[in-house]
Amino acid sequence: MRVIKVEDYNKLSELAAEIIAGQVSVKADSVLGLATGSSPIGTYKVLVEKYNKGLLDFSKIKTVNLDEYVGLDGESDQSYRYFMDENLFNQVNINKANTNVPNGKAQDTLAECERYENLIKELGGVDLQLLGIGYNGHIGFNEPDGIYPNIVHIADLTESTITANSRLFEKVEDVPTQAFTMGIGTIMRAKKILLVAAADKADVVEQAATGPVTPQLPASILQLHSDVTVIVAGK
Ligand code: GLP
Repeated sequence: MRVIKVEDYNKLSELAAEIIAGQVSVKADSVLGLATGSSPIGTYKVLVEKYNKGLLDFSKIKTVNLDEYVGLDGESDQSYRYFMDENLFNQVNINKANTNVPNGKAQDTLAECERYENLIKELGGVDLQLLGIGYNGHIGFNEPDGIYPNIVHIADLTESTITANSRLFEKVEDVPTQAFTMGIGTIMRAKKILLVAAADKADVVEQAATGPVTPQLPASILQLHSDVTVIVAGK
């Protein structure tokens, strides 16, 4: 695991965007695994700037997002589909049909998990997976647990994640209690992984990178992946 410490959030966003831009430039039809949350917002902003300068072409890019809340549809402004449309997809020349987020409104949730896992396989796997990290070390919505879930599944969100994510909802009761998420196995099958963490996550990143590998701190499994870059902002 390569941990790069940078001065601040702007530097983090520039560096992460450079890595993603590199991937898009060397493989125009890359499958990008994408993440939501505050941490990657700056990265998407820099990617849009690069696109506007004519430096990037997303026309052949395919994307699969890590997760989505159960019960929210893409029109709801707290959904991860909405987040992606707003922060990236609507601002670049990506073909929306090539962008994938689990369907939060799926009636048959188990079938949706299976469909999403198979879709990733059919796309040939993820070339580069972008990740954030939760305060408890979760990646995607894989919360601390006794096992590492292997495939896309429904996760019950912990109290601390619900509280942390409630800032984006009117009230804490509005935060869904479950989410579709790639499993730890799904994430680990990505060819390359890029994790971005703002300064408030420095401690948990340190534990994940240097502490024991344990499902109680899900991100620690990344120590076993052969191509992980972690960028942490200093302030
Ligand atoms: C959510 C997402 C994660 C994300 C985490 C941290 O729970 N499911 O994928 O990494 O929040 O988000 P933030 O970057 O906003 O702190």
